[in-house]
Amino acid sequence: MDLKSLKQKISTLKSESSALINSSNDKGSLEKTYKSYLGKSGEVNLLLKSLGSLPQEKRKEAGMLLNQLKSDIDNSYKDKTSELSKAENELRLGNQKIDISLPSASKADGSLHPVTQTINEISDFFESIGFGIESGPETETDYYNFEALNVPEDHPAKDMHDTFYLKESGLLRTHTSPVQIRTMENKNPPHRIICPGKVFRKDSDLTHTPMFHQIEGLVVEEGASFAQLKGLLNDFLEDFFGREVELRFRPSYFPFTEPSAEVDIKWNKSWLEVLGCGMVHPNVLEMVGVDAKKYSGFAFGLGVERMAMLKYDIPDLRLFFENDYRFLKQF
Ligand code: DAH
Repeated sequence: MDLKSLKQKISTLKSESSALINSSNDKGSLEKTYKSYLGKSGEVNLLLKSLGSLPQEKRKEAGMLLNQLKSDIDNSYKDKTSELSKAENELRLGNQKIDISLPSASKADGSLHPVTQTINEISDFFESIGFGIESGPETETDYYNFEALNVPEDHPAKDMHDTFYLKESGLLRTHTSPVQIRTMENKNPPHRIICPGKVFRKDSDLTHTPMFHQIEGLVVEEGASFAQLKGLLNDFLEDFFGREVELRFRPSYFPFTEPSAEVDIKWNKSWLEVLGCGMVHPNVLEMVGVDAKKYSGFAFGLGVERMAMLKYDIPDLRLFFENDYRFLKQF
């Protein structure tokens, strides 16, 4: 090859490569074009290899021309690359554009479960008149759940409780009354406490669930009387329902109280039972080492779900446990 035809070839390659590079629509085809000129076995390399066939004195000029071609192709490759990148970027940004006219996804506020709310309301009342809040374990021993509450082994009252017994030993507490015992064991009288918590019974139908909540109340002091118990429960129930209520104390039986009563309230012209109560049985006081000659006590126990159903006019106990958002958000 001579210098003249080399020059011609270079000029063809220059215009041809520039046209091809500029017409590339994507980086893939641009890359391919680039390699066909400047790759290892690309056109420019082939020409470089053929320099040896030129006469010695022409090689330098030919080399310079080829290097110029190389950098021309390089430049148009770089220009095109950045042009394609810019276009890609603009396309991406265009797709990401935020439509501020769209309504945002709604976020719901959380709220306390009606059972928790009811426990809080009842606790607030008793705290405001000086009661402390106590709690105890949900798994109990036979001693705390029954024996210390004056329910001896084989006592028929045990059958009323449908107890869940645990495999090894112990049971799920059937009422919050064992917290009375734990409190009296650990602290000296006087006592004025309530104990809210979960209780468990093998019972499941329209009006019973295997787990529900109770609040236990206990007052032990010198001269505690049934009259005080009546006055306290009257104040509490009127505070809870937010209006005057008519109460009836109906004689009843609980092993841990003597005398015992169930309290009914007048509800839509009929009597409805709301809680159990009584004077703490002297056996119970003695069992925990409280001097029954010096101190007397009264106690009461109520079902939280039942109280909430009355107050908020909830027709079905199961609503408390289904956690249907439409129900819960009403509280
Ligand atoms: N523990 C009783 C129950 O679960 C409720 C109860 C009744 C508690 C009378 C008391 C009480 O403290 O004096 O059925």
